[in-house]
Amino acid sequence: MNFLDYIESHRDENLNELKEFLRIPSVSTKSEHKQDIERAAQWVAERLRQAGFAKVEVIATKMHPLVLAESLGQPGKPTILFYGHYDVQPAEPLELWTSPAFEPAVRDGKLYGRGTADDKGQVHIHLKAFEALKTTLGKLPINVKVIIEGEEEVGSVNLWDFVVNHKERLKADALVVSDTSMLAPGVPSVTYGLRGLNYYQVELTAAAQDLHSGVFGGAVPNPITILAEMIAKLHDKNFRVTVPGFYEDVATVSAKERKALNSLPWKESEFRKTVGAPALCGEKGFTTVERLWCRPTLELNGIWGGYTGEGSKTVIPSKAFAKISTRLVPHQDPAKIAKQVERYVRKLLPKTVRCKFETLSTGNPWVAPFEHPIFQKAIQALQQGFGKKAVFIREGGSIPFVTQMHDTFKVPCVLIGFGLPDENAHAPDEHISLENYFGGIKSIAAFYSSLAQP
Ligand code: BES
Ligand code: MN
Ligand code: MN
Repeated sequence: MNFLDYIESHRDENLNELKEFLRIPSVSTKSEHKQDIERAAQWVAERLRQAGFAKVEVIATKMHPLVLAESLGQPGKPTILFYGHYDVQPAEPLELWTSPAFEPAVRDGKLYGRGTADDKGQVHIHLKAFEALKTTLGKLPINVKVIIEGEEEVGSVNLWDFVVNHKERLKADALVVSDTSMLAPGVPSVTYGLRGLNYYQVELTAAAQDLHSGVFGGAVPNPITILAEMIAKLHDKNFRVTVPGFYEDVATVSAKERKALNSLPWKESEFRKTVGAPALCGEKGFTTVERLWCRPTLELNGIWGGYTGEGSKTVIPSKAFAKISTRLVPHQDPAKIAKQVERYVRKLLPKTVRCKFETLSTGNPWVAPFEHPIFQKAIQALQQGFGKKAVFIREGGSIPFVTQMHDTFKVPCVLIGFGLPDENAHAPDEHISLENYFGGIKSIAAFYSSLAQP
């Protein structure tokens, strides 16, 4: 049997096995899930053994274990490093899920559950492609190294330590990742650019403790008002970020690339429907695609303080907080941007509050050329798996490992995503299209098989 027929005849088995993986609530940010994280790592390791990897290890780190595997039985053939993550985002708010987050369910050609698209479903695509190749060919057609981590959703904190200490072990001719999206249904895509991410937290303190707003109101500073005023000054009326120097190092996108990106089979009307807001907005002078993929942004992720419970409580809070992030593009330097943002935030604040500014994480953007022949092999494999034309895209999300690997090893990074932008990654009712999941297994098997050919 050839591997495509094998994959076709194992649809039900594969789907059931993926559901098993999804039932493990491997939420990396919460310590109560420590055992689930451990179970998920062991589960992945076991599947890799079944897929014919000779060497499989679960390696403890300061936080969550890494799963490493190697199959190096094809001397002279290329070696790829496959990267993915088995951890997921928290499922809250639970009441907004149509079916429970960790009880995967199929509805209308889609598999629902936390991790379906980001990233367990996509990792499973590779596990099943490896297994199909190994079973039908006797062994994997190329050399494969695998690294699957459990800390991606919390910033890959311990991964980089491991990589720098084990460079030889991870060395490969190319990095392969499936943790991104397709441009649209029926448009398989290879991603050649991601934005970088800096994350900050601001804490303002005015009075030493909460105060009765009748007794004190009118004569003491209110940190919520001050925070809101500061935040309102971070963008101008053209939606440009006002942080001095923010755009200083931003690479201009060539006319040729702008043209290519703006002529992709992508509909703004569809995007607007997905978003569901009355209207879109963004930096003046750029199209929506450019705003999403090629331009840096500053976003408020959360703001809190004072009384937010039921009914009313008259209080002037002592503190107010905000979580702010910046998405970065070439050639912005995350460390420099963090300094600029902090300096500007402090400058905007009056003397009536104290400010604690923390940079929680920083990460570089990544955009790379796709001339290397491996990219055409990826495009051809996607066309074979989906029977549709495949395209090159950039995306707005961030994957710290990709940037680090590219900077360190200078190898081509092939990002082949099978999610879709409206599949609710990080949100309630996350799902993956079954067509993309099954088409993904075929495409990835075809891709790995094609890498064995000259
Ligand atoms: N898989 C996503 C990144 C992604 C999503 C890339 C969509 C391209 C398209 C990843 O799991 C993720 O959520 N990354 C975080 C950053 C991380 C440091 C927490 C992000 O982009 O917010
Ligand atoms: Mn992911
Ligand atoms: Mn994610």
